[in-house]
Amino acid sequence: MLQVIKSIKDMKQKIKTIKDSHLTIGFVPTMGALHEGHLSLVRNAKKEHDEVVVSIFVNPLQFGKNEDLRHYPRTFDRDCELLSREGVNLVFYPDITEIYPDGFCTSVIVHDLEDKLCGKTRPGHFRGVAVVVLKLFHLIKPDSAYFGQKDFQQTVIIKRMVYDLNLDINVKVLPTIRNTEGLALSSRNVYLTETEKKDALCLYQSLVKAQCMATSGITDTEKIIREMKKIIHTCASATIDYISIVNPETLEITSEVRNGNVVTLAIRIGRTRLIDNVILTF
Ligand code: PAJ
Repeated sequence: MLQVIKSIKDMKQKIKTIKDSHLTIGFVPTMGALHEGHLSLVRNAKKEHDEVVVSIFVNPLQFGKNEDLRHYPRTFDRDCELLSREGVNLVFYPDITEIYPDGFCTSVIVHDLEDKLCGKTRPGHFRGVAVVVLKLFHLIKPDSAYFGQKDFQQTVIIKRMVYDLNLDINVKVLPTIRNTEGLALSSRNVYLTETEKKDALCLYQSLVKAQCMATSGITDTEKIIREMKKIIHTCASATIDYISIVNPETLEITSEVRNGNVVTLAIRIGRTRLIDNVILTF
């Protein structure tokens, strides 16, 4: 039976019971509007732990002033149904005031990593992510926490925070789940019209191009990015926020591509900002 807990007090009590029984906890933080990407994290957590906790919280601190906080899809009943089907027993579904009571003023800044890539166009976004994830980690005390590679910069920042603060949490990063045509699943895909959904395939196509070029021995970053841009520019509704090839730990831009570098991009399709990435292997 799926139990939904809304208060921090009840959650603490529940976690204490689990810990007292010496059961392990796998944790999947989400903002809801669940899809197969989220569910793949849940399935892995379920395989590897006695208890799985999923949090559903649309975190206002990680949305910019002109972003989509108000319109972000909220499908709580359906989410619970999907999680029940996966055999999840425990969902943490707090209200905003539970997480951020009056006067809340603490921030978590993972310097040098938070202002690169997405941080440039979404200032403050990763502080919002880091503070809520750290709060959830403290509350849920998981043995492992599961994140998707789709939000690559987020995974780098969380791993760094866990390392820097000596948290005893295994951060697991799992591959991006895509639809049959290659579009990375995202809760924001519901904003796309049918035409935009077709246009959005240019993200994946450009990433595949980058991988092909690297495989064929091309290591000049600029040359690869130039070819990627050509693909993006074939889509009428696409505008480039950034396309970068970076070191997977420091997020520093590389000029010469190496095995394990990450090609990462943010592209606007119409009014919807989408992100995607691939880890280059050659
Ligand atoms: P949300 O966008 O709901 O994503 C929750 C988790 O699902 C993240 O780790 C994300 O990377 C993963 N995910 C999303 N799409 C995926 C896909 N197509 N394949 C695999 N994994 C995918 O990321 C957040 O929420 C928030 O920033 C959060 C960490 C919950 C903090 O508020």
